[in-house]
Amino acid sequence: MLTRVLAGAAALAATAGLAAPAAASEPPSGPETQVVGGTRASQGEFPWMVRLSMGCGGALYTDQLVLTAAHCVDRTGSDSSITATLGVVDLQSSSAKKVRSTYVYRSPTYDSTGGDWALIKLASPVSGIPTLPIAKNADNNSGTFTIAGWGAAQEGGAQQRYLLKAEVPFVDDQTCQSQGGSYGELKPDAELCAGKLDTGGVDTCQGDSGGPMFRRDEAGEWIQVGIVSWGDGCARAHAPGVYTEVSTFASDIAEAAGKI
Ligand code: ARG
Repeated sequence: MLTRVLAGAAALAATAGLAAPAAASEPPSGPETQVVGGTRASQGEFPWMVRLSMGCGGALYTDQLVLTAAHCVDRTGSDSSITATLGVVDLQSSSAKKVRSTYVYRSPTYDSTGGDWALIKLASPVSGIPTLPIAKNADNNSGTFTIAGWGAAQEGGAQQRYLLKAEVPFVDDQTCQSQGGSYGELKPDAELCAGKLDTGGVDTCQGDSGGPMFRRDEAGEWIQVGIVSWGDGCARAHAPGVYTEVSTFASDIAEAAGKI
């Protein structure tokens, strides 16, 4: 199952899951608890993480723009339908900042050559929340990546109340493509694969879409290298997560950000 096509369904499930707190309010039971195969992030660990009301993740790109996935949004244009929740790991925290969208910019190349990214403009700038810089070149497009989100903790599972995090290793394009099925259609310049190829068990999943994949750069600072895009199921062996290759689109993103 190619899960990208299910973003709409994931969005509905997310809304339902959060409307019924009981479904997602149980704290995880231990360090190996559930992103899939992850653990709870601590408050302030990834301060630029954003939850979007359509059931996606995002990262704060400027104090008024959230970088997410194109498949999380419908079209470029004015849009006040999205609520961004910022500044918390617990989506039900009373200290959560909630800001409405005013405009959406959807990657114009997504439907043709690829580029699963979008920018969401917030009604007002947020203060006191750091942004996550994006990779401008391929230097950090390998190694071990961190993923985080409020999406399902297992394939077909419920959205999460608390932010989960995990680490996944880089998978090179050729290896990723040779996993067959949907992976045969991988766009090597536009997409970056990551996951535990042989065992599975750790991955992003429905509802994590649009959220960042990141690592430390040469200066030891967090840098965003990917955007959660798609995968065949979640955390299956030989079915890595596929992420937008942010460095490829860094100048397009910056240019769009300057216009909206
Ligand atoms: N498309 C999904 C979403 O809308 C994200 C899927 C990520 N899948 C994966 N196996 N890494 O939330």
